[in-house]
Amino acid sequence: MSPDLILAVRLLRAGELVAFPTETVYGLGADAANPAAVAKVFAAKGRPPNHPLIVHLPGSGHLDQWAADIPQDAWDLAEALWPGPLTLILKRAPAVPRAVTGGQDTVGIRIPAHPLALELLRAYAQAGGGRNGMCGIAAPSANRFGRISPTDATHVRDELQDAVSMVLDGGPCNVGIESTIIDLSRDGMPPRLLRPGHITPEQIADIIGKLPELPETMKMPEAPRVPGSLDSHYAPRTPTYLVDTADLPREIEALQQENKRCGLLLRSIPPLPAIQSLCHLPDTPAGYARGLYGALRELDIAGNDIILVEAIPKDPAWAAIADRLRRASHGSSEKSTA
Ligand code: TXA
Ligand code: MG
Repeated sequence: MSPDLILAVRLLRAGELVAFPTETVYGLGADAANPAAVAKVFAAKGRPPNHPLIVHLPGSGHLDQWAADIPQDAWDLAEALWPGPLTLILKRAPAVPRAVTGGQDTVGIRIPAHPLALELLRAYAQAGGGRNGMCGIAAPSANRFGRISPTDATHVRDELQDAVSMVLDGGPCNVGIESTIIDLSRDGMPPRLLRPGHITPEQIADIIGKLPELPETMKMPEAPRVPGSLDSHYAPRTPTYLVDTADLPREIEALQQENKRCGLLLRSIPPLPAIQSLCHLPDTPAGYARGLYGALRELDIAGNDIILVEAIPKDPAWAAIADRLRRASHGSSEKSTA
């Protein structure tokens, strides 16, 4: 085992924070069975205490330690999709500290697929795990509350350097957006999708034979949005707006006439006025998701007055990205001159 991993395990067992890569985004890890360690996570992120954390496990053999009344659907999804970018919300086992679950009776669990995350989790378990021999690492995304999730070790260092004891560097994250979350905790109620991600509702349906309930925003992507009521998250500091491809030239020219510096996130190659601050992402959901947070960070620190994001296809395959862009942005189009 590498010296880095040995140190990471020692720090976690001592109640310290270790950031580590997962296939989705970097996590800010702590012994999930140690309330004092979990409190450090909330402090480092500036996260309100009622926002529960996801507990990461080395294997589904540990599920019984953390969850109770586990339904067959959970075992089937675990078998088919773990390790992978899927979080299951289950009834919590009595030993799970309330601090982890944000005071709720449920707990979020996942087994990440990143090799370094798995190595860490397995080494942690082998060393005896944390408090009470429980082998779960609580890890929210390793960013300050409400900001863009980190998909590279440098993002974590830039944002949380002083707050963590160690950052394990596993290179860039392959998926790039946070795990799909499915709630299986409601007795007699159908599974419910709480957060769209790389694993789609159709993939879930293929395994458990029923489509999870979808959030309103996924059923009605065109639903009107009330200013001020947005669930702002994953957000750059620079005001960010979604703009249809055909409207981009006009919007950019209007901004340039106002001497506003404009950052642009594109996926196609439309004819546009020259612009200094530009990121281009692949025009496929997987490629776009992989690069999205890095691009938003880059445009955010480039000294722009405004970020324009080229609108994405209205297609279910882009639903998880649509969800993140909706939260990252201030709205669509009718923006720039406001
Ligand atoms: O991909 C991911 O899930 C990443 C990596 C590090 O695993 N983690 C992540 O954690 O995105 P975080 O804390 O940034 O987001 C976790 C989400 C939150 O929206 C939280 O409310 C929800 O999971 N969650 C956790 N436990 C829950 C529970 N018991 N009931 C409902 N939602 C829960
Ligand atoms: Mg997060």
